[in-house]
Amino acid sequence: MRDKMVLKGLFSIVVVVFLLQCINGEDPYQFFTWNVTYGDIYPLGVKQQGILINGQFPGPQIVTVTNENLIVNVCNNLDEPFLLSWNGVQQRRNSWQDGVYGTNCPIQPGQNFTYVLQVKDQIGSFFYFPSLALHKAAGGYGGIKIFSRSVIPVPFPPPAADYTILAGDWFKQNHTDLKAILDGGQDLPFPDGILINGHGSNGSTFTVDQGKTYRLRISNVGLATSLNFRIQGHKMLLVEVEGTHTLQNTYSSLDLHLGQSCSVLVTADQPAQDYYIVFSTRFTSQVLTAASTLRYSNSAGSVSGPPPGGPTTEIDWSLNQARSIRQNLTASGPRPNPQGSYHYGMVNTTRTIRLANSAPIINGKQRYAVNSVSFVPADTPLKLADYYNIQGVFSLGSMPENPTGSGGYLQTSVMAADFRSFFEVVFENSEDTLQSWHIDGHIFFVVGMDGGQWSPASRLSYNLRDGISRCTVQVYPRSWTALYMPLDNVGMWNIRSENWARQYLGQQFYLRVYSPANSWRDEYPIPKNALLCGRASGRKTRPL
Ligand SMILES: *[C@@H]1O[C@H](CO)[C@@H](O)[C@H](O)[C@H]1NC(C)=O
Ligand SMILES: *[C@@H]1O[C@H](CO)[C@@H](O)[C@H](O)[C@H]1NC(C)=O
Ligand SMILES: *[C@@H]1O[C@H](CO)[C@@H](O)[C@H](O)[C@H]1NC(C)=O
Ligand SMILES: *[C@@H]1O[C@H](CO)[C@@H](O)[C@H](O)[C@H]1NC(C)=O
Ligand SMILES: *[C@@H]1O[C@H](CO)[C@@H](O)[C@H](O)[C@H]1NC(C)=O
Ligand SMILES: *[C@@H]1O[C@H](CO)[C@@H](O)[C@H](O)[C@H]1NC(C)=O
Repeated sequence: MRDKMVLKGLFSIVVVVFLLQCINGEDPYQFFTWNVTYGDIYPLGVKQQGILINGQFPGPQIVTVTNENLIVNVCNNLDEPFLLSWNGVQQRRNSWQDGVYGTNCPIQPGQNFTYVLQVKDQIGSFFYFPSLALHKAAGGYGGIKIFSRSVIPVPFPPPAADYTILAGDWFKQNHTDLKAILDGGQDLPFPDGILINGHGSNGSTFTVDQGKTYRLRISNVGLATSLNFRIQGHKMLLVEVEGTHTLQNTYSSLDLHLGQSCSVLVTADQPAQDYYIVFSTRFTSQVLTAASTLRYSNSAGSVSGPPPGGPTTEIDWSLNQARSIRQNLTASGPRPNPQGSYHYGMVNTTRTIRLANSAPIINGKQRYAVNSVSFVPADTPLKLADYYNIQGVFSLGSMPENPTGSGGYLQTSVMAADFRSFFEVVFENSEDTLQSWHIDGHIFFVVGMDGGQWSPASRLSYNLRDGISRCTVQVYPRSWTALYMPLDNVGMWNIRSENWARQYLGQQFYLRVYSPANSWRDEYPIPKNALLCGRASGRKTRPL
């Protein structure tokens, strides 16, 4: 009898705790149904088959708040397999939702897959994009903006409006033709133009009221080139880079490399008329330029004078600008505590990984490689092969930790890493072209970049105090970039070139961050709706 009472009491405590968890622990949900189709678009004046989402190019924008759950049902009405990935959304404990070849089976034509995302502990500006084949060359991308929760202070007054600008180079050839060029062992041609929110020059307008301040969230969604942007007659105050509040410096123009995003504040403090917002390619011998319009609502006239020119000096100007982009240690990020309360410079690194890009010819074809390994997909997504313990799909240790100096070779390359380790990563670029690297599932601290060859002595120049934290970083020609990276997210994560031809032809690999605990605290179990394919076909998604 007494035992029964105790049990009953315990039971009600458990029920109350459970209910409280449901009430306090449950973050809001947003639901999306996205119909992916081909449709005619004319961004550079010629008709092209674009990839549209719910009839739109660029696709619908996701506007969300820290910790919200996003349920995105993607219905593939193309005639080929399709996946979306989320550039910079960290997918904590959940590489099942990352939507790249190595984590998900493609959504077959006529099928759908529902992504279950949470923007856990994140703020800032990001974008989604189609990850397979050369789909990104046909559109299918859109903006993601994550606002701070209302209780968290933001280090600038609320802007009068918040505009998203997705800019990137564009080709008149369609994505199947571009893919055929790469499959044939050739490099892509030079792009034909720059699009700003899906339009060529003079196609988009942003309206402002005189005297007010606006936030522009800008992403480089292109395939091949860095961009520089500037606004005629106006200064820009940089406030955020890929989810980190920056020291608020003023710039008259900013470089934005492939896959990168940032926010600037612009005050409409000039005589009321129209002004150019100009984007131009950087580090290219031929310079492409496109403009959109900043229009004062009481504008007295259209744009006048020449569009402002971009920086003419090359690497040093850009390198110095990159070094000036640092985090504001006292500003809040997604949480109320200041961003600087995590002292990354005082953590001892547990491993140094040096990653050198190269452009080998393999079997007579142009390929791209990291530490001599040119990545090739296997017949089964790596995450599924790992989960079901299917042998022979990939081997851990197939990715060297240092440049090998050998010729290039093909491999399904995966590097093993322990959960909660702390990496020093050095990207080494001995080529003449600028590199842009992205790491899925993580943010990292940019501790240094410089010309020449990296050596242990280069560590003396590291910024161990207020380096920016972000998820996409550039490496200048014949230069290096160093990062500190906490491995705080269990899963199978893609590390890739954001130059799409290089990514497609092998300049990428996967990092398997592993915890022996096998606990939901560290990693979510396989989703019930997971698509299965390759050697994982016919398996059960949830074991008993
Ligand atoms: C998706 O779009 C196509 C083409 O417009 C249309 O035929 C189809 O019915 C749409 N599907 C859904 C689920 O809306
Ligand atoms: C496909 O969409 C339907 C609703 O339209 C949903 O019930 C189902 O779970 C989706 N399939 C997957 C694999 O997400
Ligand atoms: C840093 O953030 C603090 C706190 O919001 C703010 O008061 C300060 O102006 C910011 N400083 C710079 C240089 O951005
Ligand atoms: C791309 O263009 C080629 C002709 O150059 C055409 O055969 C092909 O169907 C097009 N593909 C798409 C997806 O529009
Ligand atoms: C955009 O407008 C400017 C000024 O009116 C003009 O010089 C330029 O040629 C236009 N560009 C295009 C592509 O129409
Ligand atoms: C880092 O390593 C140094 C030297 O081995 C040691 O003295 C220090 O306590 C370590 N710091 C941390 C935070 O582990």
